[in-house]
Amino acid sequence: MWQNTKNSVINDCQSEIKTVIITKISISSIKKVILPKIVIMRVYLDNAATTPLDPEVFEAMKPMLLENFGNPSSIHSHGRQVRAALERARKQIGEMINASPGEIFFTSGGTEADNMAIRNGAKAYGIKHAVTTKLEHHAVLHSMDYIRDTYGVQIHYLDVDCDGNADYDQLENILKTHDKVMVSMMHANNEIATKNDIERIGALCQEYDAIFHTDTVQTMGHFPIDVKKIGMCFLAGSAHKFHGPKGVGFIYVNNERKINPLIHGGSQERLMRAGTENVAGIIGMAKALEMACTEMEDHTNHVKEIKNYMMEQIKEKIPGVSFNGMSNHIDNSLYTVLSVNFPSTMLDEMLLFNLDINGISASGGSACTSGSSTGSHVLDGINDPNEKKGPSIRFSFSKFNNKEEVDYVVSKLEEMYAPVLAS
Ligand SMILES: Cc1ncc(COP(=O)(O)O)c(C=O)c1O
Repeated sequence: MWQNTKNSVINDCQSEIKTVIITKISISSIKKVILPKIVIMRVYLDNAATTPLDPEVFEAMKPMLLENFGNPSSIHSHGRQVRAALERARKQIGEMINASPGEIFFTSGGTEADNMAIRNGAKAYGIKHAVTTKLEHHAVLHSMDYIRDTYGVQIHYLDVDCDGNADYDQLENILKTHDKVMVSMMHANNEIATKNDIERIGALCQEYDAIFHTDTVQTMGHFPIDVKKIGMCFLAGSAHKFHGPKGVGFIYVNNERKINPLIHGGSQERLMRAGTENVAGIIGMAKALEMACTEMEDHTNHVKEIKNYMMEQIKEKIPGVSFNGMSNHIDNSLYTVLSVNFPSTMLDEMLLFNLDINGISASGGSACTSGSSTGSHVLDGINDPNEKKGPSIRFSFSKFNNKEEVDYVVSKLEEMYAPVLAS
């Protein structure tokens, strides 16, 4: 199904450094130094950080950048035409998660949606207690800090086991014994692939009349999501995690749970989010989500197969590896993410760098802070009895990856580890 686009992306991502002839010019002679042929593939395995834009999504966005450039708030025909496209996108996104169009508000991405849900949800409902875990994305954790410091909300961090699974009995106990509670728990963890049972959390929140927000940034377009079935109040989604453009996302706000805007200064989004809408981004997001939902079964099967293949290859070729969180449970995890813990060797500090110089993009910690080598709050937060000492690398996959790329990555890892493990 993705063959054409897949090939073009793969071709773009592969580069070859052919035989290199370096010519040194000196006064007396010209020497030719012939270096051996080095083949470098460029492999992108950091899809939890961001996914490549699908070329079909780009085609859907193009007219909104070039021809239909009107401001959707303008009342003339240029504006009206764009307004109509925007409202079609809202309806389309709503349909994908069983929400009505009026429950979808466009944002600049997942971070803004999380901030809006937690900060303004806490204010609107006079929240006194908030429940989360220390494994959430910083967009949630820092918003929790904000409501603690600004509104005096007491934050309860649920215990998690060594795979990052939260303690739901503890959650129920807090809900039973406290009033004015907000719960924010992500659908699946972006680093260790552990999923929360959001249906169970939703049911508990309904039973005890608590506000429930969930960050579905990593699962939107990868798993079916039905807001009516789960019964959440707020949900955050982000286009660039499902082959849409960056800088655009949405918040779902349940019709019965009103909150105020986070950003002020205009009447856009029915007074819920000021600022001229990122029209091309929104059209791209709707197209990307529609494609992701339509192709979900094929996509899921393909990515699971690639991840399983990589896991088996790594286990076979690199003795001493283990996996973080639930990422090695193919059918019970965020199937796009494999978090590998490598044995501790002299390579530890240089592993990510060595992958990078071999053309391999992966992540050493959380996606949004990749590039910085600071430790991962998620890995720190899982109470691992084995006390893994070696480096952890997160490999994350998309529909555009293939087994050839996995073979290349594993061969490079083998080249790096074979000598050090033998010594
Ligand atoms: C779980 C999770 N939540 C929120 C975000 C932030 O989303 P955005 O990049 O759209 O602001 C990310 C980004 O990696 C994420 O993984």
